[in-house]
Amino acid sequence: MLPSADQNEILKRRTFAIISHPDAGKTTLTEKLLLYGGAIHVAGAVKSNKIRKTATSDWMEIEKQRGISVATSVMGFDYADHHINILDTPGHQDFAEDTFRTLTAVDSAIVVIDSAKGVEAQTRRLMEVCRMRKTPVMVFMNKMDREGKDPFDLMDEAEKELGIHCTPVTWANGQGLKFESVFALNNRPSELSPKLQEDLEMIDGVYPEFYKEAYLRGDLAPVFFGSAYKTIGVQELLDFLVENAPSPLPVTAEERTVEPMEDKFTAFCFKIHANMDPNHRSCIAFFKICSGKFLRNTYYYHVRKDQQMRFAAPTCFMAQKKETVDEAFAGDVVGLPDTGNFKIGDTLTAGEHLHFKGLPSFSPEMFKYIDNADPMKQKQLDKGINQLMDEGVAQLFVSQLNGRKIIGTVGQLQFEVIQYRLEHEYQAKCKWQPLQMYKACWIESNDDAELDMFKKRKAQYMATDKEGRDVFMADSAYVLSMAQQDYKHITFHFTSEF
Ligand code: G4P
Repeated sequence: MLPSADQNEILKRRTFAIISHPDAGKTTLTEKLLLYGGAIHVAGAVKSNKIRKTATSDWMEIEKQRGISVATSVMGFDYADHHINILDTPGHQDFAEDTFRTLTAVDSAIVVIDSAKGVEAQTRRLMEVCRMRKTPVMVFMNKMDREGKDPFDLMDEAEKELGIHCTPVTWANGQGLKFESVFALNNRPSELSPKLQEDLEMIDGVYPEFYKEAYLRGDLAPVFFGSAYKTIGVQELLDFLVENAPSPLPVTAEERTVEPMEDKFTAFCFKIHANMDPNHRSCIAFFKICSGKFLRNTYYYHVRKDQQMRFAAPTCFMAQKKETVDEAFAGDVVGLPDTGNFKIGDTLTAGEHLHFKGLPSFSPEMFKYIDNADPMKQKQLDKGINQLMDEGVAQLFVSQLNGRKIIGTVGQLQFEVIQYRLEHEYQAKCKWQPLQMYKACWIESNDDAELDMFKKRKAQYMATDKEGRDVFMADSAYVLSMAQQDYKHITFHFTSEF
């Protein structure tokens, strides 16, 4: 076990992500939290990492946005004797996979909902990942200063659409133009309007009291009302989070469960951010520390490469400033300068042979063959594709029938990013060939004979993923459901981890 001073540091950590549909107010809320932490001093200091809708094919704009997002990857600050780490998630839905992976590195999440729009598509999807991982979530109903949906309807919608029990912790005094303040339900104002009195009777009759154990299990979400823009209801959220959100949680590795208070350092890589300057191919690999304490210039074991490595210039992120750090604790994220040694999912330890689980790949939504458009540059193309896939930009499958490479993405924008980066960073040219594909399914069975038969019959639809696993590329929902019907002993998984 770590010395108690170090344990105390770990207990102070609150590492979380803010998730929302674009425009619900994630950036505004983040900024207000940073203001409370004294990490920034003026509003407007946090740049949105949003890739604006109008800019989807404007490359300079995307590059600029990528530059901003490295600065906002992790925003650390101290508040009320705690250390807060907010992990940023990309706003654009074409990069949803990045967000999924970031969610594997947090101990809790705040879901921001626009009270005029209710629960929107992207929030629903991200919440599915939280539910799968049983991540504790808090809900912030934002924009109460606008005319929006009725608070009770919003509560109902959150319960139904997010698939989690909800209970309000604060309540709004008015809405729209009349919205002035919020109050904690366990500290109610003595003078209440008849409308509020009615609301409170209803709340007491319908909602359970906040029960921390249920929240920590991921079964109950405390709900807050407010306006990030007007800074109303934000401090209540932050104070509650400091008090109730979990400090770093145990993390499951294939070999065993790792406890944050163990004295030996362990960490896994959940994100790789490439340098934007094509003349200096360097990256920052972001590691979430799972246990112990990280020290600068100390040798650690890179499990996949079976190699000791030390880091002279590890960085942490305080607000938006990147700083070299001498030490960091479980719950923190360190950025390690990298020249191609790391892949998403890599583990660093003090010598133990550990592999952290929980970095699943999800079935992509769009698929294209990638072909070489410049025969002189095959090597560059292969290297570029491999490195971009290690960075987690998209997923690569190789057809077992003809060896052709297939790239799977969540959105069109990723194909454009790949093509652009191959050209500018690797001097390679690619061309795409459309591929009508519905889903990539990782297949598994206890019945070897049936599995073999399936693979033979479906040979033209079989591919191999980067880890060498068999993947069935179903070209339509119908084909998939027929396969499920015909091969009862085969399980078709939509994520690579099962
Ligand atoms: P996002 O990161 O989730 O995409 O949302 P962001 O914070 O950028 O907010 C989206 C828009 O909603 C912004 O307006 C922002 O000012 C506004 N907003 C955020 N919180 C509130 C709130 O509590 N009340 C009201 N009324 N508006 C809110 P914008 O016009 O797109 O940008 P800007 O010109 O204000 O920066």
